[in-house]
Amino acid sequence: MTTTEMPDTLHRILDYSSRPDPYPLYAELRRTPVARQEDGSYVISTYRELADILHNPHLSSDVRNLTHPMPSAEGAPTPAFINMDPPQHDRLRRMAMRHFGPPNTPGLVTGLEPDLTATVGGLIDDFAGKEQIDIVDDLAYPFPVSVICHLLGVPREDEPRFRVWVNDLINSIDYDARTDPKEKLEDGVRARKDLREYLGGLVEQRHGRPGEDLLSLLANDDGPDGRMTDEEIISTANLLLIAGHETTVNLITNGMLTLLRHPRILERLRREPDLVVPLVEELLRYEPPVHIIPWRAAYSDITVGDTVIPKGSQIMLMLASGSRDPDRFHDPDRFDPDRTDNQHLGFGSGIHLCFGGPLARREAQIALGELVRRLDAPALLADPPPYRRSPVLRGPIHLRVERNGG
Ligand code: HEM
Repeated sequence: MTTTEMPDTLHRILDYSSRPDPYPLYAELRRTPVARQEDGSYVISTYRELADILHNPHLSSDVRNLTHPMPSAEGAPTPAFINMDPPQHDRLRRMAMRHFGPPNTPGLVTGLEPDLTATVGGLIDDFAGKEQIDIVDDLAYPFPVSVICHLLGVPREDEPRFRVWVNDLINSIDYDARTDPKEKLEDGVRARKDLREYLGGLVEQRHGRPGEDLLSLLANDDGPDGRMTDEEIISTANLLLIAGHETTVNLITNGMLTLLRHPRILERLRREPDLVVPLVEELLRYEPPVHIIPWRAAYSDITVGDTVIPKGSQIMLMLASGSRDPDRFHDPDRFDPDRTDNQHLGFGSGIHLCFGGPLARREAQIALGELVRRLDAPALLADPPPYRRSPVLRGPIHLRVERNGG
């Protein structure tokens, strides 16, 4: 393995024109598995090296460990646990997970299934009378947002307010050559403050007047790790709200796009509904919602393969490239729901492995299963569809489909 100054492949990947198909550029990137860029940061793009570093205890998720801290970290209040390291990360993750799944809350996802199916069913009922639908606006966005609002106890009718804050916040940490970085950061700081104030108000209400929702449980829990402070609850709620917004949307939309591009697999799914389980797993490998983890820091010098990454360096992890690495996956550019041995990086790996994975999988399985069952002959109206700006959370911004166009 060699470490070289990065060619411009990364810049081309980040450029918006690559959004519809970044995969050939990932293949270029993988020629240098651990690549040093001119600014001293590192880009890792191969499966083996990604899996290795994601399990390395010297890899930090706390941007304050960067030699040149990111400007977006300025003014940031208590970070969420996704941006923390052990032991603080582990404590807060344990406290949040107590209410999100086994062993403390074992039936959470299965208990939600009737509601998930009813919500998707209702959204599809609303397609009636429309010849054309937008998979994003009509289903893939409103569905997971309703679910996360319900779980957290955030009023669904407030969505138009926090949608703006969430968008500004995500833009502020993303790449977009079009916007002035200073303006973007200012928008991000403002959005973060507004969202925190809003969530703070909800947490306040939950003290002493608890309901069944996650905010109430977090505000009143006296589990083995004690109680979260209000600041910690707000940061955690913030994280879950954003995670519940921007990722599952892309999984459902990328899923429908992939099915419409593979009509034989779509037909097979109609005949064999159980195929949806391995199919969603393959989507998480083949068209994952999270392409890049842009900011990790080296706590101390980290050796990956035969490269030593110096302490304080910024490290960028190209997860979607790793999941298409031919040294790990046979015929990786083929969408194959029958693939076995599919340990993709769609939910990350190591101590920060996605905690909403079981919920997100079930949401996508139900949404895609019902769409395929209820749309007679769906046909894509634009291929490629228009994409969101982000190279990090990558997915179409709209996916227009003719309901009976096939
Ligand atoms: C298809 C949908 C989703 C995808 C592809 C996804 C992907 C990811 C990835 C790649 C990470 C690792 C980030 C890192 O290592 O820095 C992550 C972490 C996380 N995800 Fe998800 N996610 C999805 C849905 C969700 C949902 C629905 C929730 C919760 C409602 C959620 C909650 C979280 C949390 C809390 C973390 C941080 C875990 C930690 O730091 O220990 N995710 N997710």
